[in-house]
Amino acid sequence: MTGADSGAFGVYVHWPFCLSKCPYCDFNSHVRHAPIDEARYARAFAREIETTAARIPGRQVTSIFLGGGTPSLMQPETVGAILDAIARHWRVAPGAEVTLEANPTSVEATRFAGYRTAGVNRVSLGVQALDDESLSALGRLHTAREALDAVAIARRAFDRYSFDLIYARPGQTPAMWAGELQRAISEAAEHLSLYQLTIEEGTPFFGLHAAGRLRTPDEATARALYDVTQEVCAAGGLPAYEISNHARPGAECQHNLVYWRGEEYAGIGPGAHARLDIDRDRHAISNEKRPKAWLMRVEARGNGVVTDDILNSEERGDEFLLMGLRLAEGIDPQRYTALSGRALDPDRIAMLREEGAITVDACGRLRVTQTGFPVLDAVVADLAA
Ligand SMILES: C[S@@+](CC[C@H](N)C(=O)[O-])C[C@H]1O[C@@H](n2cnc3c(N)ncnc32)[C@H](O)[C@@H]1O
Ligand code: SF4
Repeated sequence: MTGADSGAFGVYVHWPFCLSKCPYCDFNSHVRHAPIDEARYARAFAREIETTAARIPGRQVTSIFLGGGTPSLMQPETVGAILDAIARHWRVAPGAEVTLEANPTSVEATRFAGYRTAGVNRVSLGVQALDDESLSALGRLHTAREALDAVAIARRAFDRYSFDLIYARPGQTPAMWAGELQRAISEAAEHLSLYQLTIEEGTPFFGLHAAGRLRTPDEATARALYDVTQEVCAAGGLPAYEISNHARPGAECQHNLVYWRGEEYAGIGPGAHARLDIDRDRHAISNEKRPKAWLMRVEARGNGVVTDDILNSEERGDEFLLMGLRLAEGIDPQRYTALSGRALDPDRIAMLREEGAITVDACGRLRVTQTGFPVLDAVVADLAA
């Protein structure tokens, strides 16, 4: 099924700039000391939207996600210009979810009303921790008070908002995390993203960790922290619908579901990725990551694409498993067969069921269990082998 006939089609737009680089982060984000020419970037975004829409005409956009980097550094007019360009080149479904990722500083919160006027209807705030000591250890530029004030401003400006926390931080115990989570749930209306701290190669945290100067929780503690996350969130009415995402039923992030369900999405901006269905083929597309180089490419040829590969059936099957098994709703093995041209191995399914890592329901849907989620990569590798 293509994005065009399944009904879901997302547009991701990447704003690649931040005020400072957090020591754990390996996203495509850059710090610039000179002012950024937002009008020039807005023109390039509009141009790339135009050329992308020309490749896949007739889609109806069901979700838009402005991610980063720090999109809340953009002026509301820039956000408005990007959303207008999307609406000029595609039909946007009534009530489409339009999310903007925001850092929770007081300066950025002053722009929330302008974003709403521009057409944003959901914000996702990078709160990361609810105490100042942890925030400073994470290299964040905001205090906990400032972040909670930004959450309160978001609550007034938008019907829908979410915030991110990072757990499994150095020195964090399950009891500390349970308390922090309870507080987070009381501040969250409908959605929380809870990411286990990962030590990414090339970041300052990687060097500190390798030198033994940054100690993350051992495996047993990490597992206990994960279990606490599931228990506290489920009891608070925000069960996990994806390995790191929790929502009240019905409040799931529609845009992220597009990725995990293997639907079609466009990627606009430096380093953005896309999956487009063209002539029955699925294209995996990636853009130039460096902002200036992306800008010059778009100005010269209309898009910033550096790789555009057609996925073969094996790759399509692997990607379907990798993304779909992150979801609590699991996958339909028949769709795997249709994409990959082969069925999942019944012996492997039986073995993983016996180990308690997966379940298969009466309709044949396959789901990863609470036991399986902490070792999801191994479960996927087993099924895909
Ligand atoms: C791309 S960031 C953008 C959000 C925004 N710039 C901010 O920092 O508030 C999205 C989220 O990824 C998470 N993240 C980034 N690096 C991470 C890491 N190494 N481990 C765990 N979570 C991480 C953070 O929770 C962050 O809010
Ligand atoms: S975590 Fe957010 S603010 Fe920090 S460097 Fe990454 S994208 Fe920028």
